Amino acid sequence: MADQTNEAPVKARGLEGVIALESELSDIDGDTGKLVYRGYSIEDLAENAMFEEVVYLLWNGELPTQDELDTLRSQLRAERTLPAPVLSILRNAPDDAHPMAVLRTAVSALAFHDRETEDMSPDANRRKATRLLARIPTIIAAFDRLRKGREAIEPLTEGSMAYNFLYMLNGEKPGEAAERSFDVCLVLHADHGLNASTFTSRVIGSTLSDMYSAVTGAIGALKGPLHGGANREVMRMLMDIDATDKDATRYVRNRLSEGEKVMGFGHRVYKTMDPRAAILKEMVGELSEERDQRKWYDYSVDIMNTMQEERDIDPNVDFFSASTYYMLGLDPDLFTPIFALSRTAGWTAHLLEQWSDNRLIRPRAEYVGEHDKTFTPVEKR
Ligand code: SDX
Repeated sequence: MADQTNEAPVKARGLEGVIALESELSDIDGDTGKLVYRGYSIEDLAENAMFEEVVYLLWNGELPTQDELDTLRSQLRAERTLPAPVLSILRNAPDDAHPMAVLRTAVSALAFHDRETEDMSPDANRRKATRLLARIPTIIAAFDRLRKGREAIEPLTEGSMAYNFLYMLNGEKPGEAAERSFDVCLVLHADHGLNASTFTSRVIGSTLSDMYSAVTGAIGALKGPLHGGANREVMRMLMDIDATDKDATRYVRNRLSEGEKVMGFGHRVYKTMDPRAAILKEMVGELSEERDQRKWYDYSVDIMNTMQEERDIDPNVDFFSASTYYMLGLDPDLFTPIFALSRTAGWTAHLLEQWSDNRLIRPRAEYVGEHDKTFTPVEKR
């Protein structure tokens, strides 16, 4: 019998501070600004691990040996190609469709073409996680090219996920520096405790619905500007500043005085700087020097300093990821789909964990409506 406590039910708007479940995947220390995946610090992983190693770590609980890594990488490469009907969905989507709406739709359609969709055995779920992670980059890159009137590019059967994604997107093989920078971004976005989209995936998974349904729901949640959609809005802000008087401090002060939120700042858990933002800040600073294009970085530092002075609020992962992706030549409206690409590792790891000891996630609402009302037939209303 589940542990039924007799304590008063917890009531917290937005479930703030509520511990909904136990997890071994990632831990956030909001006070000290620390993040670990399966016990490894995000700093160590960003510095030393490639994204596929982090995927293996999240799915299996330990870093892979070389053989285990090689096996995972070949499994991912083998599943990169999209079923033809899903590619047709991308061809027929409106060119101006929201890329996250396209991703959500295409991921949902992948379920039609996976014979194991309804097979909830651990091995089948592991294979589905591999297919989803392998195909989401192809969906994103193919749609971007098709909406621009170009042909989709067949995935490579070689190379890392970062290398293959940049190749499918741009039609040319990326340099080592670009591949490495993008790979670090994928490591940084892979998992982050029970954020809104991960919680969404676990709620759906807890009903014993399938992995495609759960990841489709998670994509819907990540799309929102208060969550993954913030990185797109940050780039819009930087471009607005650049298109006007280029005074980032004034721009932010105006927004704050109008009671507007500044995208890329604040966090439900971190009460100090998001450690991922610190790593991204350093990376975009280096990229700006290398490419002698400092303005996005300079605007960003001015905004960060102003937010700290005016509101004592720190940047989150979405703030410096925007200028990093932009410096890597990525289209701003692909920033959130790229976040989803990486977070598919976390979502699927959480689903595997949920199913290893499942319990339906079903909180309560406090009813504050009326009681004991008398029914009046419609002809008398
Ligand atoms: C991600 O959860 C995760 O882990 C998410 C994520 C992940 O890896 O999965 O880290 C990724 O989604 C990062 C967050 C991206 N979103 C944004 O950057 C949008 C802007 N940020 C805010 O909307 C806000 O900070 C939230 C949504 C992130 C957190 O909101 P909370 O915890 O509900 O806090 P709140 O909105 O109640 O803010 C508390 C106070 C308020 O002031 P008062 O009304 O009490 O006077 O801080 C202010 C807010 O107005 N505030 C901001 C602000 N964020 C909070 N003021 C201006 N700009 C902001 N960005």
